[in-house]
Amino acid sequence: MKCWIVGLSALLMTAAQAGPATQVAWTEETLEQVERGDPEKGKALAGRCASCHGETGVSANPVFPNLAGQLATYLYRQLHDYKDGSRENPIMQGFAAGLSEQDMADLAAFYSRQPPAKPAAAAGKLSAGVLRLIEHGDSKRIIPPCRVCHGDHGQGERIDTPRISGQSQAYLAQTLKAYRTGQRHNDIYGRMRLIAEQLTDEEIEGLAAYYGALAP
Ligand code: HEC
Ligand code: HEC
Repeated sequence: MKCWIVGLSALLMTAAQAGPATQVAWTEETLEQVERGDPEKGKALAGRCASCHGETGVSANPVFPNLAGQLATYLYRQLHDYKDGSRENPIMQGFAAGLSEQDMADLAAFYSRQPPAKPAAAAGKLSAGVLRLIEHGDSKRIIPPCRVCHGDHGQGERIDTPRISGQSQAYLAQTLKAYRTGQRHNDIYGRMRLIAEQLTDEEIEGLAAYYGALAP
Protein backbone atom coordinates (compact mmCIF):
# COMPACT_ATOMS: atom_id res chain seq x y z
CA MET A 1 0.00 0.00 0.00
CA LYS A 2 2.81 2.39 0.96
CA CYS A 3 4.40 2.34 -2.49
CA TRP A 4 1.03 3.27 -3.98
CA ILE A 5 0.78 6.32 -1.80
CA VAL A 6 4.16 7.45 -3.14
CA GLY A 7 3.09 6.54 -6.69
CA LEU A 8 -0.16 8.44 -6.39
CA SER A 9 1.54 11.55 -5.06
CA ALA A 10 3.99 11.45 -7.99
CA LEU A 11 1.02 11.16 -10.34
CA LEU A 12 -0.74 14.08 -8.71
CA MET A 13 2.33 16.31 -8.68
CA THR A 14 2.91 15.85 -12.41
CA ALA A 15 -0.75 16.41 -13.12
CA ALA A 16 -1.12 19.54 -11.00
CA GLN A 17 1.02 21.42 -13.51
CA ALA A 18 -1.65 21.07 -16.22
CA GLY A 19 -4.45 23.66 -16.61
CA PRO A 20 -7.82 23.27 -14.88
CA ALA A 21 -9.80 20.36 -16.31
CA THR A 22 -13.26 21.43 -15.16
CA GLN A 23 -15.06 24.58 -14.07
CA VAL A 24 -16.93 22.74 -11.30
CA ALA A 25 -15.55 23.29 -7.80
CA TRP A 26 -17.07 21.09 -5.12
CA THR A 27 -18.07 23.85 -2.75
CA GLU A 28 -20.66 23.15 -0.08
CA GLU A 29 -23.16 25.10 -2.12
CA THR A 30 -22.64 22.99 -5.27
CA LEU A 31 -22.79 19.75 -3.29
CA GLU A 32 -26.04 20.86 -1.71
CA GLN A 33 -27.49 21.76 -5.08
CA VAL A 34 -26.76 18.26 -6.38
CA GLU A 35 -28.13 16.67 -3.21
CA ARG A 36 -31.34 18.66 -3.55
CA GLY A 37 -31.90 17.56 -7.18
CA ASP A 38 -35.51 16.53 -7.81
CA PRO A 39 -35.77 13.06 -9.42
CA GLU A 40 -39.37 13.68 -10.58
CA LYS A 41 -38.36 16.81 -12.49
CA GLY A 42 -35.32 14.91 -13.75
CA LYS A 43 -37.56 12.16 -15.08
CA ALA A 44 -39.59 14.67 -17.07
CA LEU A 45 -36.43 16.19 -18.57
CA ALA A 46 -34.98 12.74 -19.34
CA GLY A 47 -37.60 12.15 -22.05
CA ARG A 48 -35.38 13.80 -24.62
CA CYS A 49 -32.39 11.69 -23.60
CA ALA A 50 -34.20 8.34 -23.86
CA SER A 51 -33.60 7.76 -27.59
CA CYS A 52 -29.91 7.19 -26.79
CA HIS A 53 -29.67 6.52 -23.05
CA GLY A 54 -32.90 4.49 -22.66
CA GLU A 55 -35.95 5.34 -20.50
CA THR A 56 -34.10 4.73 -17.22
CA GLY A 57 -30.51 5.30 -18.29
CA VAL A 58 -29.81 1.80 -19.61
CA SER A 59 -28.72 2.46 -23.18
CA ALA A 60 -29.94 0.26 -26.02
CA ASN A 61 -26.87 0.94 -28.18
CA PRO A 62 -23.44 0.15 -26.62
CA VAL A 63 -21.82 3.31 -28.02
CA PHE A 64 -24.01 5.33 -25.62
CA PRO A 65 -23.00 5.08 -21.94
CA ASN A 66 -25.38 3.75 -19.30
CA LEU A 67 -26.34 6.43 -16.78
CA ALA A 68 -28.49 4.33 -14.41
CA GLY A 69 -27.03 3.99 -10.91
CA GLN A 70 -24.16 6.37 -11.64
CA LEU A 71 -23.04 8.80 -8.91
CA ALA A 72 -25.15 11.97 -8.99
CA THR A 73 -22.12 14.21 -8.45
CA TYR A 74 -20.31 12.59 -11.39
CA LEU A 75 -23.34 12.94 -13.69
CA TYR A 76 -23.85 16.57 -12.71
CA ARG A 77 -20.22 17.43 -13.36
CA GLN A 78 -20.11 15.70 -16.75
CA LEU A 79 -23.19 17.63 -17.91
CA HIS A 80 -21.65 20.85 -16.65
CA ASP A 81 -18.38 20.02 -18.42
CA TYR A 82 -20.19 19.40 -21.73
CA LYS A 83 -22.07 22.66 -21.36
CA ASP A 84 -18.98 24.81 -20.76
CA GLY A 85 -16.85 22.84 -23.25
CA SER A 86 -14.48 21.22 -20.71
CA ARG A 87 -15.60 17.86 -22.15
CA GLU A 88 -15.97 17.90 -25.89
CA ASN A 89 -18.55 15.89 -27.80
CA PRO A 90 -20.74 17.50 -30.45
CA ILE A 91 -23.86 15.46 -29.59
CA MET A 92 -23.69 15.96 -25.83
CA GLN A 93 -22.58 19.59 -26.02
CA GLY A 94 -25.74 20.21 -28.05
CA PHE A 95 -27.96 18.53 -25.46
CA ALA A 96 -26.26 20.14 -22.45
CA ALA A 97 -26.35 23.66 -23.92
CA GLY A 98 -29.99 24.22 -22.94
CA LEU A 99 -29.77 22.78 -19.41
CA SER A 100 -29.74 25.02 -16.31
CA GLU A 101 -27.73 24.10 -13.19
CA GLN A 102 -31.00 22.97 -11.62
CA ASP A 103 -31.88 20.80 -14.65
CA MET A 104 -28.48 19.08 -14.36
CA ALA A 105 -29.01 18.41 -10.64
CA ASP A 106 -32.53 17.06 -11.35
CA LEU A 107 -31.31 14.77 -14.17
CA ALA A 108 -28.45 13.55 -11.96
CA ALA A 109 -30.93 12.81 -9.15
CA PHE A 110 -33.15 10.82 -11.51
CA TYR A 111 -30.49 8.66 -13.19
CA SER A 112 -28.48 8.01 -10.02
CA ARG A 113 -31.58 6.46 -8.42
CA GLN A 114 -32.27 4.00 -11.26
CA PRO A 115 -31.13 0.39 -10.94
CA PRO A 116 -27.79 -0.12 -12.78
CA ALA A 117 -27.69 -2.05 -16.05
CA LYS A 118 -27.29 -5.82 -15.89
CA PRO A 119 -23.65 -6.67 -16.59
CA ALA A 120 -22.80 -8.21 -19.96
CA ALA A 121 -21.93 -11.92 -20.12
CA ALA A 122 -18.21 -12.49 -19.43
CA ALA A 123 -16.40 -12.90 -22.73
CA GLY A 124 -13.92 -15.68 -22.00
CA LYS A 125 -10.83 -15.66 -19.83
CA LEU A 126 -9.02 -12.46 -18.94
CA SER A 127 -5.28 -12.18 -19.36
CA ALA A 128 -3.17 -12.28 -16.21
CA GLY A 129 -1.75 -8.88 -17.20
CA VAL A 130 -5.18 -7.21 -17.17
CA LEU A 131 -6.10 -8.78 -13.83
CA ARG A 132 -2.80 -7.52 -12.43
CA LEU A 133 -3.58 -3.96 -13.52
CA ILE A 134 -6.95 -4.13 -11.77
CA GLU A 135 -5.65 -5.69 -8.54
CA HIS A 136 -2.08 -4.45 -8.24
CA GLY A 137 -1.45 -1.86 -10.94
CA ASP A 138 2.02 -1.60 -12.46
CA SER A 139 4.59 0.25 -10.39
CA LYS A 140 7.06 0.42 -13.30
CA ARG A 141 4.61 2.52 -15.31
CA ILE A 142 3.22 4.31 -12.21
CA ILE A 143 -0.25 2.86 -12.86
CA PRO A 144 -2.13 2.48 -9.59
CA PRO A 145 -4.60 -0.43 -9.38
CA CYS A 146 -8.02 0.46 -10.81
CA ARG A 147 -9.71 -0.89 -7.69
CA VAL A 148 -7.95 1.60 -5.39
CA CYS A 149 -10.06 4.41 -6.84
CA HIS A 150 -13.05 2.71 -8.52
CA GLY A 151 -13.64 0.22 -5.68
CA ASP A 152 -13.51 -3.58 -5.49
CA HIS A 153 -16.76 -3.88 -7.44
CA GLY A 154 -16.13 -0.95 -9.79
CA GLN A 155 -18.90 0.83 -7.88
CA GLY A 156 -17.19 4.23 -7.81
CA GLU A 157 -16.41 6.52 -4.93
CA ARG A 158 -17.71 9.90 -3.95
CA ILE A 159 -17.39 12.59 -5.27
CA ASP A 160 -15.81 12.26 -8.66
CA THR A 161 -14.87 8.62 -9.31
CA PRO A 162 -17.56 7.04 -11.47
CA ARG A 163 -19.11 3.59 -11.31
CA ILE A 164 -17.59 1.58 -14.16
CA SER A 165 -19.03 -1.88 -13.43
CA GLY A 166 -21.91 -2.80 -15.72
CA GLN A 167 -21.01 0.09 -18.04
CA SER A 168 -21.16 -0.66 -21.76
CA GLN A 169 -17.96 -2.38 -22.85
CA ALA A 170 -17.79 -0.48 -26.15
CA TYR A 171 -18.16 2.87 -24.36
CA LEU A 172 -15.53 1.96 -21.73
CA ALA A 173 -12.98 1.16 -24.44
CA GLN A 174 -13.90 4.26 -26.44
CA THR A 175 -13.59 6.64 -23.48
CA LEU A 176 -10.28 5.10 -22.28
CA LYS A 177 -8.92 5.69 -25.78
CA ALA A 178 -10.21 9.28 -25.66
CA TYR A 179 -8.29 9.86 -22.38
CA ARG A 180 -5.24 8.28 -23.98
CA THR A 181 -5.16 10.74 -26.89
CA GLY A 182 -6.20 13.65 -24.65
CA GLN A 183 -9.42 14.12 -26.66
CA ARG A 184 -11.17 13.71 -23.27
CA HIS A 185 -9.39 16.01 -20.85
CA ASN A 186 -11.87 16.97 -18.13
CA ASP A 187 -10.43 14.60 -15.48
CA ILE A 188 -9.19 16.57 -12.48
CA TYR A 189 -5.39 16.36 -12.03
CA GLY A 190 -5.27 14.39 -15.32
CA ARG A 191 -5.53 11.20 -13.29
CA MET A 192 -7.18 9.08 -15.99
CA ARG A 193 -5.12 10.58 -18.82
CA LEU A 194 -1.84 9.74 -17.09
CA ILE A 195 -3.03 6.15 -16.66
CA ALA A 196 -4.62 5.67 -20.09
CA GLU A 197 -1.61 7.13 -21.91
CA GLN A 198 0.32 4.07 -20.85
CA LEU A 199 -2.22 1.38 -21.73
CA THR A 200 -1.98 -0.73 -24.89
CA ASP A 201 -5.03 -1.40 -27.09
CA GLU A 202 -5.08 -4.96 -25.78
CA GLU A 203 -5.11 -3.81 -22.16
CA ILE A 204 -7.90 -1.32 -22.87
CA GLU A 205 -10.04 -4.01 -24.51
CA GLY A 206 -9.37 -6.40 -21.61
CA LEU A 207 -10.19 -3.81 -18.95
CA ALA A 208 -13.40 -2.82 -20.80
CA ALA A 209 -14.45 -6.48 -21.05
CA TYR A 210 -13.78 -7.03 -17.33
CA TYR A 211 -15.73 -4.03 -16.07
CA GLY A 212 -18.53 -4.44 -18.63
CA ALA A 213 -19.17 -7.92 -17.23
CA LEU A 214 -18.71 -7.05 -13.54
CA ALA A 215 -21.88 -7.04 -11.43
CA PRO A 216 -22.25 -3.64 -9.79
C1 HEC B 1 -28.27 11.35 -29.85
C2 HEC B 1 -27.80 10.53 -28.74
C3 HEC B 1 -27.76 11.15 -27.35
C4 HEC B 1 -28.76 11.84 -26.69
C5 HEC B 1 -30.17 12.15 -27.17
C6 HEC B 1 -28.22 12.18 -25.39
N1 HEC B 1 -26.95 11.68 -25.25
FE1 HEC B 1 -25.79 11.71 -23.56
N2 HEC B 1 -24.28 10.79 -24.54
C7 HEC B 1 -24.31 10.43 -25.87
C8 HEC B 1 -22.97 10.01 -26.28
C9 HEC B 1 -22.54 9.56 -27.67
C10 HEC B 1 -22.15 10.11 -25.13
C11 HEC B 1 -20.63 9.83 -25.01
C12 HEC B 1 -19.94 11.11 -25.43
C13 HEC B 1 -18.48 11.18 -25.11
O1 HEC B 1 -17.75 10.26 -25.45
O2 HEC B 1 -18.08 12.19 -24.46
C14 HEC B 1 -23.02 10.60 -24.06
C15 HEC B 1 -22.56 10.84 -22.76
C16 HEC B 1 -23.36 11.31 -21.73
C17 HEC B 1 -22.93 11.48 -20.36
C18 HEC B 1 -21.55 11.14 -19.79
C19 HEC B 1 -21.59 9.73 -19.23
C20 HEC B 1 -20.32 9.24 -18.61
O3 HEC B 1 -20.29 8.09 -18.16
O4 HEC B 1 -19.34 10.00 -18.55
C21 HEC B 1 -23.99 11.97 -19.67
C22 HEC B 1 -24.05 12.30 -18.18
C23 HEC B 1 -25.09 12.12 -20.60
N3 HEC B 1 -24.68 11.70 -21.85
C24 HEC B 1 -26.36 12.60 -20.27
C25 HEC B 1 -27.36 12.89 -21.20
C26 HEC B 1 -28.59 13.59 -20.89
C27 HEC B 1 -28.98 14.05 -19.50
C28 HEC B 1 -29.28 13.71 -22.07
C29 HEC B 1 -30.61 14.43 -22.30
C30 HEC B 1 -30.68 15.81 -21.87
C31 HEC B 1 -28.50 13.06 -23.11
N4 HEC B 1 -27.33 12.60 -22.55
C32 HEC B 1 -28.90 12.92 -24.43
C33 HEC B 1 -25.41 10.44 -26.71
C34 HEC B 1 -26.61 11.07 -26.43
C1 HEC C 1 -6.20 7.69 -8.95
C2 HEC C 1 -7.58 7.22 -9.00
C3 HEC C 1 -7.98 6.39 -10.24
C4 HEC C 1 -7.40 5.23 -10.68
C5 HEC C 1 -6.21 4.48 -10.12
C6 HEC C 1 -8.18 4.82 -11.84
N1 HEC C 1 -9.20 5.71 -12.07
FE1 HEC C 1 -10.51 5.64 -13.61
N2 HEC C 1 -11.31 7.44 -13.03
C7 HEC C 1 -10.90 8.16 -11.91
C8 HEC C 1 -11.63 9.41 -11.87
C9 HEC C 1 -11.49 10.48 -10.81
C10 HEC C 1 -12.47 9.44 -13.02
C11 HEC C 1 -13.40 10.57 -13.48
C12 HEC C 1 -12.59 11.47 -14.38
C13 HEC C 1 -13.38 12.45 -15.20
O1 HEC C 1 -14.19 13.16 -14.65
O2 HEC C 1 -13.18 12.48 -16.43
C14 HEC C 1 -12.24 8.17 -13.71
C15 HEC C 1 -12.89 7.80 -14.88
C16 HEC C 1 -12.75 6.57 -15.50
C17 HEC C 1 -13.51 6.13 -16.63
C18 HEC C 1 -14.60 6.92 -17.35
C19 HEC C 1 -15.97 6.43 -16.92
C20 HEC C 1 -17.12 7.06 -17.66
O3 HEC C 1 -18.27 6.80 -17.29
O4 HEC C 1 -16.90 7.80 -18.62
C21 HEC C 1 -13.08 4.86 -16.94
C22 HEC C 1 -13.59 3.96 -18.05
C23 HEC C 1 -12.05 4.51 -15.97
N3 HEC C 1 -11.87 5.57 -15.12
C24 HEC C 1 -11.38 3.29 -15.95
C25 HEC C 1 -10.28 3.01 -15.12
C26 HEC C 1 -9.47 1.81 -15.23
C27 HEC C 1 -9.74 0.67 -16.19
C28 HEC C 1 -8.49 1.93 -14.30
C29 HEC C 1 -7.31 1.00 -14.04
C30 HEC C 1 -6.40 0.79 -15.19
C31 HEC C 1 -8.69 3.20 -13.61
N4 HEC C 1 -9.79 3.82 -14.15
C32 HEC C 1 -7.90 3.69 -12.58
C33 HEC C 1 -9.95 7.77 -10.97
C34 HEC C 1 -9.10 6.68 -11.11
